Amino acid sequence: MGMQYYLSSSILSADFGCLADQIRQAEEGGVDWIHVDVMDGHFVPNITMGPFIVEAVRKLTRLPIDVHLMIEKPERYIQDFAEAGASHLSVHIEGNPHVYRTLEAIRSLGCRPGIVLNPGTPAVAISSVLPLVDLVLVMTVNPGYSGQSFIPTMVEKVAEVRRLIDQDLSPTWIQVDGGITPETLPLVINAGANAIVAATAIFKHPQGIVSGIQSLRSFFPV
Ligand code: DX5
Ligand code: ZN
Repeated sequence: MGMQYYLSSSILSADFGCLADQIRQAEEGGVDWIHVDVMDGHFVPNITMGPFIVEAVRKLTRLPIDVHLMIEKPERYIQDFAEAGASHLSVHIEGNPHVYRTLEAIRSLGCRPGIVLNPGTPAVAISSVLPLVDLVLVMTVNPGYSGQSFIPTMVEKVAEVRRLIDQDLSPTWIQVDGGITPETLPLVINAGANAIVAATAIFKHPQGIVSGIQSLRSFFPV
């Protein structure tokens, strides 16, 4: 079977005054996952959402909820996010000395574990935990905010992660997150990414959410 491609809509750029309607439009427009960016004001400068929002989103959609933890000591909160309804739980490799144990715990809680690389961290940093994860997220901006510009040198990192994963013949997804637009999407797909996160290009598309989704999906290989 050929590669499957997934589009994950980051609600960081959604209008929270009408979140239910925004998620309904994203689901009807054909996204595969709902991406929730959790920030604690320490690991990254910004503060965003916690398990309470995941619980609310869980009631609004049947789509998998793709939770990206940008927090210190994520092991303290994984149970809360699992109970709130997270489907995927991704943690950063940086500043996370017991990440191996945390990834095992995520799986035992019934979620798919993911590992995330900041732009300054080399691909090889995750080689020891690759057998534990279903998803590797290569950040294509510095985490913290939506609406930033794609860092072009991350394309080569996606290709390196693709080589690491293919060596093991594993079906692990390669996700990219940050600055994804119709211009940057073909670059990361060519390099081997198959799970795409977008906030601005979906929720702030001038013609609306459904148009934003269609314009990204049109670059997915058929
Ligand atoms: C950044 C977050 C991203 C962000 C992407 O720290 O992890 O998920 O929402 O936003 P865009 O698609 O606007 O770059
Ligand atoms: Zn994210």
